[in-house]
Amino acid sequence: MPEPTNPEPVGAEPTTPTPASRPSTPATTPVDEVTEINPDVDIAPEDIGVPVVAEGERLLEVDTVTLRFGGVVALNEVSFHINKGEILGLIGPNGAGKTTCFNVMTGVYQPTSGVVRYLGKPLGKRHKFQITKLGIARTFQNIRLFANMTALENVLVGVDAHHTTGVVTAMFRLPKHRREEEQGRARAMELLEFMGLDGKADELARNLPYGDQRRLEIARALATSPQLLCLDEPAAGFNPAEKVKLMELIRTIRDQGYTVLLIEHDMKLVMGVTDRIVVLEFGRKIAEGSPAEIRDNPAVIAAYLGVDEEDAS
Ligand SMILES: Nc1ncnc2c1ncn2[C@@H]1O[C@H](COP(=O)(O)OP(=O)(O)O)[C@@H](O)[C@H]1O
Ligand SMILES: [Mg+2]
Repeated sequence: MPEPTNPEPVGAEPTTPTPASRPSTPATTPVDEVTEINPDVDIAPEDIGVPVVAEGERLLEVDTVTLRFGGVVALNEVSFHINKGEILGLIGPNGAGKTTCFNVMTGVYQPTSGVVRYLGKPLGKRHKFQITKLGIARTFQNIRLFANMTALENVLVGVDAHHTTGVVTAMFRLPKHRREEEQGRARAMELLEFMGLDGKADELARNLPYGDQRRLEIARALATSPQLLCLDEPAAGFNPAEKVKLMELIRTIRDQGYTVLLIEHDMKLVMGVTDRIVVLEFGRKIAEGSPAEIRDNPAVIAAYLGVDEEDAS
């Protein structure tokens, strides 16, 4: 397996948000690209020593979080929470602060004020890898895979994120390390099979069609056995048929025991899949509620149509 120390991401996240665009090269017809997943493969999160709250209890809480970048207030006193076992949609127009919210929740940025609590405790100044170990995983708006590693190796990177054996055990290939390695491989193959990617385990990530790359990123995030899976516009660049398939996939992932926070720019898309929705606009939370409540909310309609609230109602 190549050294993961010098990764070559397929796409690095730019500082200013641009929607992930579909690579122009794939010539396959859109329908060909819809990979069938195998929902019956058991991918339930492993017990990795993270305390688990009961279904319906508060898993993560964003409490009055403000984040400034110089003069830009990317998040302005935003508060919401995620319950164990739900699919929460985080929606809003481009530039609303959705990705920034993920960045605050995953240790990329520290809030200017306010606090993020996970399992009741402040995340504090933890690093990204520590937050992964705590059970929060994410994917990126612009795909980040190790381009020159195989699909299987990419997923193994996720599995390794919570392995317990240290450098010495690994160096001498002690039994505990070998056992973990075997279990990790089996787990990675299960995830690939679930995603319908098991036939492509040995293909380099960069040679996979765009849709497969997006699914592989989700598989790698799942490999860390997260309590909370955060997906940042996973359907970006998909055609309508692929989008519908992806929403089904997200529901299946939840049914297997994961809690999902789904960022999506397309409001219609999240309506059918989420339990609750939080809406951001210009860094502020402008609405929160069930999909039906959000759909009929004049402030949300105005935000999306870019018109005055009175005109939209
Ligand atoms: N690293 C950064 N430096 C400066 N401004 C940023 C940075 N990241 C995000 N922003 C700004 O914060 C706002 C919210 O961005 P973002 O969270 O990416 O929006 P969304 O994901 O909802 O499209 C935008 O105005 C964006 O330009
Ligand atoms: Mg974004």
